[in-house]
Amino acid sequence: MNVGIFIPIGNNGWLISKNAPQYMPTFDLNKTIVQRAEHYGFEFALSMIKLRGFGGETEFWEHNLESFTLMAGLAAVTDRIQLFATAATLTIPPAIVARMASTIDSISHGRFGINLVTGWQKPEYSQMGLWPGDEFFASRYDYLSEYATVLRDLWSNGTSDFKGDHFQMEDCRVSPIPQADMKIICAGQSEAGMAFTAKYADYNFCFGKGVNTPKAFAPTVERLEKAMVGSERDVTSVALFMVIADETDEAARARWQSYKDGVDEEAVAWLGQQGAADTKSKGDTNIRQMTDPTSAVNINMGTLVGSYEAVASMLDEIAEVPSTSGVMLTFDDFVQGIENFGQKIQPLMKSRKHVTEMLEQVG
Ligand SMILES: Cc1cc2nc3c(=O)[nH]c(=O)nc-3n(C[C@H](O)[C@H](O)[C@H](O)COP(=O)(O)O)c2cc1C
Repeated sequence: MNVGIFIPIGNNGWLISKNAPQYMPTFDLNKTIVQRAEHYGFEFALSMIKLRGFGGETEFWEHNLESFTLMAGLAAVTDRIQLFATAATLTIPPAIVARMASTIDSISHGRFGINLVTGWQKPEYSQMGLWPGDEFFASRYDYLSEYATVLRDLWSNGTSDFKGDHFQMEDCRVSPIPQADMKIICAGQSEAGMAFTAKYADYNFCFGKGVNTPKAFAPTVERLEKAMVGSERDVTSVALFMVIADETDEAARARWQSYKDGVDEEAVAWLGQQGAADTKSKGDTNIRQMTDPTSAVNINMGTLVGSYEAVASMLDEIAEVPSTSGVMLTFDDFVQGIENFGQKIQPLMKSRKHVTEMLEQVG
């Protein structure tokens, strides 16, 4: 099983809590995180794009770096780890994203790919006059399909003459084309999002679910498998989890409880309003999971709380879910969390034995 890191490009990572570590996103912080992740054999790092925060006392995600420029910087200071940036496709034309990707492919020597998002939070786009109207909630994956077609055209042969409803190319060119096959992530989990992933993406990134229920996301993977029926393409799933680990179960649980006790109600309330704004999707969007107030303190991300042994064993369970090629992790404290993962969790994991052995060999 591959292991990746969802790097904190926004302030405070993924904990909307007054009791969680409070920090700004900086290049230096993310450089430390990605370099240490690479050191411990993590296979990839992804940064999201977020253009408007949730407010509240913690100013949650009010402070965010930009995804492509951050990953370009990280590409220059790493050697092996695969890097993914997220394209806010309403804000940048595909021919420019294709060229940005070629540039980071060149900086990283073929270690770059992109996460394509339609956007689900209107104020991120309406604040700059780029929201196409609420009808977009229903049609956003049609838009994304055209976008991906232009990208694939440009990356594969350097030209595109695609003519669609949203994009019209006229002998459009991008050169140099990337040296490596450019991988596309999509994290859409609605029916339309999954259909898009099956047709255009290489990875389905999905939310883990619940607390200490490592396999609870399996039905999402099965939905992708259904969307893949009849397709020759190879698309695997990668599940997103937060790790809160400590020497004992009790110590880890106490930290998790403290984060929940300190939830920033105002920021969470704003998130709830954003989730409710999409009345056009068919109710199958996982925005409902993200914004559900029951555990919005970490956006209802699947959470693994416990001793290093317990977390290692739960991660091994995730590796058993069919068609799941990896896990993407967040931590309450990223720098310490990666050290603990590398030194105390990974060496206990059966699904990472090959990595532990490789690290031992290189010393
Ligand atoms: C791992 C992961 C990363 C995501 N990254 C972003 C992002 O950077 N920006 C964004 O607007 N949405 C992001 N999303 C939201 C998805 O792109 C998608 O819109 C959402 O999961 C809802 O699914 P749907 O669009 O099919 O309704 C992410 C979701 C997941 C699970």
